[in-house]
Amino acid sequence: MVQRVGVIGAGLMGAGIAEVAAKAGSDVLVWEAKQEFADAGRARLEKSLDKAVSRGKLSEEDRDAALGHLTFTTELKDFADREIVIEAIVENEEIKKDVFRQLDEIVEDPKAALCSNTSSLPIQTIASATKNPGRVLGLHFFNPVPVLPLVEVIPALTSDDEVVERAQTYATEALGKTAIRAKDRSGFIVNFLLVPYMLSAVRMVEQGVATPEDIDTGMKLGASHPMGPLTLADMVGLDTCAFIADVMHKEYGDPSYACPPLLRRMVTAGHLGRKSGKGFYDYSK
Ligand code: 3HC
Repeated sequence: MVQRVGVIGAGLMGAGIAEVAAKAGSDVLVWEAKQEFADAGRARLEKSLDKAVSRGKLSEEDRDAALGHLTFTTELKDFADREIVIEAIVENEEIKKDVFRQLDEIVEDPKAALCSNTSSLPIQTIASATKNPGRVLGLHFFNPVPVLPLVEVIPALTSDDEVVERAQTYATEALGKTAIRAKDRSGFIVNFLLVPYMLSAVRMVEQGVATPEDIDTGMKLGASHPMGPLTLADMVGLDTCAFIADVMHKEYGDPSYACPPLLRRMVTAGHLGRKSGKGFYDYSK
């Protein structure tokens, strides 16, 4: 059983991953670039644990125990004794490669799994930036991580089978997620289907086919989705949606992955969805 877990990044995804790992009883070390980001990540995580308590999903004792399993740091060198590390920082290839290059030097266990939660970047590119690419794989969680039960496991061509098994066993047995395996192709399984769907909804708004409200109501009531595609895009972050679209479009050259001009303009305007207070909907109130 994995005892020492590392999470790189305490944003939306990183805080969610750290939360489920801490609830599972592992010792969880979370890295952020600056103390203020670490503090914001801890606050986000505490809020989510409190919500779980208020919804009757977690006892107060278990919340306190989970908080006791968490440590925050701004030093990557503190990760030397980690058995599994899950990276969830910004979707930037160069920054991710740099973090994995450093982690590979720092983490001592030769069978430690160094996992990326990237949505769309090639796992092989990240793995090949290290001296031990056998330790690197993709482990892709879904937002909100404490609620959604899926994880995608993505071995690169160079991943060591034993390391992949270790990461998958941790995600399923310790974190209680259901794992599906995908090849290292941009979008893996879920985003390969979900991203063009969200982009199509943006194009429908762009072309004046219907309002965001009616598109979302259509998919909620007509297809029984928990939220419509534009509410979902706002939740994922419109900058993230545009970024993933660009990576997938580059990978496949298929116009269904091309970022619609409206989405690009909204990102330029700073309308990034829920996190900025405005996207297809207004969250400022
Ligand atoms: N901890 C534990 N459980 C929690 C919780 C928390 N912090 N917050 C909520 N829950 C539980 C609730 O108790 C409830 O459980 P129940 O169904 O047993 O009663 C359930 O989660 C739903 O919570 P809410 O009632 O608060 O909220 P909604 O019913 O409105 O659902 C939602 C919110 C879970 C976000 C739902 O709308 C949903 O699933 N939307 C789709 C999300 C989705 O598609 N995510 C994937 C995005 S793509 C991605 O992440 C990949 C990336 O690469 C882009």
